[in-house]
This record gives sequence, structure tokens and C-alpha cells, in this order.
Amino acid sequence: MTKIAIDGPAGAGKSTISRAAAKDMGYIYIDTGALYRTVGLNAMRQGADVNDADSVIATITEDLKVELRFIDGEQRMFLSGEDVSDKIRTPEASMGASNVSAIPAVRTFLFDLQRDIASRNSCIMDGRDIGTVVLPDADVKIFMFASPEARAERRYKELVAKGKEVTYEEVLSDMTERDKNDSTRSVAPCVQAEDAILLDNSDMTPEQTVSSVLKLVKRYKHKHRNFY
Ligand code: DC
Repeated sequence: MTKIAIDGPAGAGKSTISRAAAKDMGYIYIDTGALYRTVGLNAMRQGADVNDADSVIATITEDLKVELRFIDGEQRMFLSGEDVSDKIRTPEASMGASNVSAIPAVRTFLFDLQRDIASRNSCIMDGRDIGTVVLPDADVKIFMFASPEARAERRYKELVAKGKEVTYEEVLSDMTERDKNDSTRSVAPCVQAEDAILLDNSDMTPEQTVSSVLKLVKRYKHKHRNFY
């Protein structure tokens, strides 16, 4: 089983790149942000205040069932049996996820689920703390980065293409706030693991970034073969 950890801030292209690279290698792609989004959605649906840890913790009950299933090779998220894969993609769900992900009990709740899937499959797993906390034993660790301006520009174009009325400044300010939330929290902040390779794709196309990831994995495999 080969495990590849890809961490980095929001909008660095982790999911697009990871999905494409996983497809090329025949690995599964696991998007861990979707797990935090599902827990956040559940908390909001239960009327919890996502800024209040106790209020969120009260929604993590014995019957809370967060499941990750693969349908036609794509990850889908299920909340107590309901497919919420699309409902977790709203701006409210993004902010909710960012808030609940700072709560240690939420991270503990999702830890085993992530370890378990990775132990059974060759995979690319993306998130914020995969190389540092979830899979410190990953074979290849990549910290994917792009400047806030480059990331905001990409997200802005995506939203406009979807017909959303937003300004570049709004997107940039949202992104900066989430970055700050994710990188300054006390538990599992989004930081580069000591043994991770920094991949700055500010001036790269998605194709160039995928190709860099594939090269890094091939280099690892080559070394590995030479060793054993
Ligand atoms: O990758 P994303 O934007 O879907 O993630 C949503 C939020 O979840 C993000 O603000 C940070 C958090 N997250 C986390 O804390 N740890 C992870 N491994 C993945 C996501």
C-alpha cells in the first residue's frame, strides 16, 4: 500500500490535482475536508453554534453516522444515510467546517475513519494535517501552496463561471480569513511537515502540477525498488 499525503491551504488546487494524480496511478483519492464539512453541516442542522465547542460537541452523539463511500470511483459523503456531497459545498458549510475543525473532539471523532481507509488502500489523501498527524508514516508528503492572490483569482473565476455574484476582493478576504483560522489554531494547524516537499504552483497550470506530483511519486517508487 502506498500512501501519499497532500496538505496545504484552501484553494491551492489540492483536490483537482489529487483526483487527477490518483486516477493516473489507480489509487483512491480521499478528500478529508469533506469529512469536516459533513460534521459542520450536521452541527448547523442541529442548531449548534459552530463557534462554541460545547455546542458542537453536543452534536457528536452515538448515533451520528458520517460515512465515506466510493460511487463510480468518486467519494460521496453520507450523513446518517443521506447523501450530502453537494450540500457540504456552500460558503456557509466551508466556514462551518473551518470552525468545527478547530475542536479537538471533532478531530478525534474523524481520526480513526481516516486511518482506517488509508490502511486498506493505496491512496492520495488531502487535507491540512495528513502529513503531520493522520499519516505521519505516509510514503510521500507534499505541501501544496500557492500565493493567496493566485488562489483567490482561481476561486473567483470558478465562482463567476458558476454564475455567482462575487467580487475578487470578497473572495480574497474570505480566503485570508480561512487561512488564518486553519493555520493559527492550536490543534493540527495547517503547517508543512518537516519531511514534506513544498510544491508552490502559483505559476503552474493544473497539468504541470499533476505532472510534478506524479514525478515525485515515481521518484519515491524508484528509490524504494532500489532499496529492497
Ligand atoms: O479542504 P476543505 O476546504 O474542504 O476543508 C474544509 C475545512 O476543514 C477547512 O477550513 C479546514 C478543515 N480541514 C482540516 O482541519 N483538516 C483536514 N484534514 C481537512 C480539512
